Amino acid sequence: MSSTSDSELSGHILPELIPQHVAVIMDGNGRWAKSRGLPRLEGHRRGADKARDIVEWASDAGVRQISLYAFSTENWSRPDIEVRGLMALLATLLPKQIPDMNKNGVRLKVLGDVQALPGMARRAVLKACEKTAGNRKIDLVLCLNYGGQQEILAAARKLAISFKQGEISDEALQALSPEDFRNYLWRHDLMPVDLLIRTGGEHRISNFHLWDMAYAELFFDETYWPDYSREDFLRALHVFVSRERRFGKTSEQVTSNKAQSSI
Ligand code: FPP
Repeated sequence: MSSTSDSELSGHILPELIPQHVAVIMDGNGRWAKSRGLPRLEGHRRGADKARDIVEWASDAGVRQISLYAFSTENWSRPDIEVRGLMALLATLLPKQIPDMNKNGVRLKVLGDVQALPGMARRAVLKACEKTAGNRKIDLVLCLNYGGQQEILAAARKLAISFKQGEISDEALQALSPEDFRNYLWRHDLMPVDLLIRTGGEHRISNFHLWDMAYAELFFDETYWPDYSREDFLRALHVFVSRERRFGKTSEQVTSNKAQSSI
């Protein structure tokens, strides 16, 4: 899939330094369309093309999971015509993508309360997940009807029910670690997010992947999502690699750990 110029751009990133899970807030579709005198839905259509592109770029770079914020729990409050348009895009575009996903080893996963989506969109998503379940090159995690607070709340409820039913002892509850709690989250089978990219110039998390935001690296790009390019994406990867992830430790500790693990 790579062209020569891509490998030139990403070639000097060691594979072990590439973020395993990249999450993207694809913001700016509406402003992109407005600046061209087009309807907002045309911006989303172009945004959906770009969603397909970034999966290819990420796969070429060696990213293992890419999650895309396609519809948040808060997006239901957009004008009805936009909500219906986004759902129709999902229902029509996803089935067409299945052959390419299979050819390119893309496994579709979904994060969010998919049961609440309109029937056509829900069926298209679930069918695409089923038809691509055997693929292993990269996971495309579509975040649909997703909210980070809702995810944490659902986990807390699940934990409370387990406790009430005696499946968890008092001692186990007291000893519960953040790693243990993560097992109750919708994301329990996903890799932690290493890098969050938000396009469109806003500097917010907007209820995306809240749990993993604890230690994710954040990268904000001014570009409207439909204009986002492979070069923009590779720049974000390079910035990620240049950062020191300390996870609460000192820089000296991190450097000496790295030196020890490379012996
Ligand atoms: C944010 O831009 C974008 C969304 C709320 C929807 C993102 C959805 C897509 C890119 C389509 C995905 C479809 C598939 C099939 C994967 P905005 O509308 O908030 O833009 P604005 O801030 O400029 O108004």
